[in-house]
Amino acid sequence: MTPESEGLQLRRAVCPGSFDPITNGHLDIISRASRLYDVVHVAVMINQSKKGLFEVEERIELIREVTAEFGNVEVESFHGLLVDFCKQRDIPAIVKGLRAVSDFDYELQMAQMNNGLSGVETLFVPTNPTYSFLSSSLVKEVANWGGDVAHLVPPQVLGALNRRLGRT
Ligand code: PNS
Repeated sequence: MTPESEGLQLRRAVCPGSFDPITNGHLDIISRASRLYDVVHVAVMINQSKKGLFEVEERIELIREVTAEFGNVEVESFHGLLVDFCKQRDIPAIVKGLRAVSDFDYELQMAQMNNGLSGVETLFVPTNPTYSFLSSSLVKEVANWGGDVAHLVPPQVLGALNRRLGRT
């Protein structure tokens, strides 16, 4: 018997992003969302105009590894609009981290667009200040030039970065 087969509605949310690669900042938001919802879907959104450092399947595998301990996180990729991902899975809420005021303008636009398109709500979680400067792009740039990013990404991601950048 699952809660759903007993007629109970699971509370679902999605954490969307490119996750190229997942950082400790992303992980903090997913972990906090996983305490608020029954199921958290992590959606690796495919942007064909952006060639990533990691293939989408590699990103998914890394996210699965580092979120396994939460026990209620499902990871998959999606090609299309986030609102369609939500509609297909009956997800009423998007959870996003806000690092600073500079994130707000664009995030507000997306939240309003998504709400206007389908009624899905966006909930903003203030990023842990430890990670307020952190982005996947900066991690890749620092790692690429040989800087230390061990405190910014999970160990599995550090290993993958080192291998991809030919450091092991
Ligand atoms: O990690 P990112 O690249 O900042 O994440 C941005 C992302 C993937 C969440 C955003 O671009 C997105 O939702 N893309 C899916 C396509 C879509 O729904 N676009 C309309 C947004 S209003």
